[in-house]
Amino acid sequence: MKAIVVYLSTSGNTKIMAEAIASGIESKHIDVKAVSFYDVKIEDLNEADAVAVGSSTFYYRMLQPMEKFMNETLASTNPKGKLGAAFGSYGWSGEAPILIAEKMREMGMTVIDPVLRILHKPTDKDVQECKRLGVDIAEKMKQRSKAPQPQGAPG
Ligand SMILES: Cc1cc2nc3c(=O)[nH]c(=O)nc-3n(C[C@H](O)[C@H](O)[C@H](O)COP(=O)(O)O)c2cc1C
Repeated sequence: MKAIVVYLSTSGNTKIMAEAIASGIESKHIDVKAVSFYDVKIEDLNEADAVAVGSSTFYYRMLQPMEKFMNETLASTNPKGKLGAAFGSYGWSGEAPILIAEKMREMGMTVIDPVLRILHKPTDKDVQECKRLGVDIAEKMKQRSKAPQPQGAPG
C-alpha cells in the first residue's frame, strides 16, 4: 500500500502540514512521500492508494497551479475509488481544502471528512493534529484493503 501527500505552499505553512501528515501515515508503516506538486511524478500518483492534497487559500480559492494539478494531472490518473484527504493553511476564509475535497468527490474519490484547515503557521498542537490525520488516513487504507469498498462509496 502506498500514499502520497501533494502540496502547494507559498511560505511553508501548508508544507509543514504535509510533512506532519506524511509522518503520521509513515508511523503506521505505510510507504508515503510528501511532495511539492512541482515535483510530483505521475507514476507516484498512479501507484498511490491514497492521495492527500493541500493548498493554502488565496483570494478565496486554492492556488491556481493546484487547481490545474487537480483538473489535469490528478484527473488524468483516474483516481476514482481511491482514498482522498484535503488540507491547507489559511488566513481568514479557508476555502481551498473544501474546494479540493469537492473536486476529489467529483472524481469519485472517497474523501475523509472534515478537511483539515490550520490558521497561519501550524503550532506544535496543530502539527499533532496533522499527524493524527495521517494516522487516520493509514488506518482507513488498511480497513479498505481488508474489505474493498465499491468505487465511490462514502466513508
Ligand atoms: C495575497 C494573499 C491573499 C490571501 N487570500 C486569502 C483568502 O482569500 N482567504 C484566506 O483564508 N487566506 C488568505 N490568505 C492567507 C494565506 O492563506 C495564509 O497566509 C497561509 O498561511 C499561507 O500558507 P502557505 O505558506 O502554505 O502558502 C492570503 C494571503 C495572501 C498573501
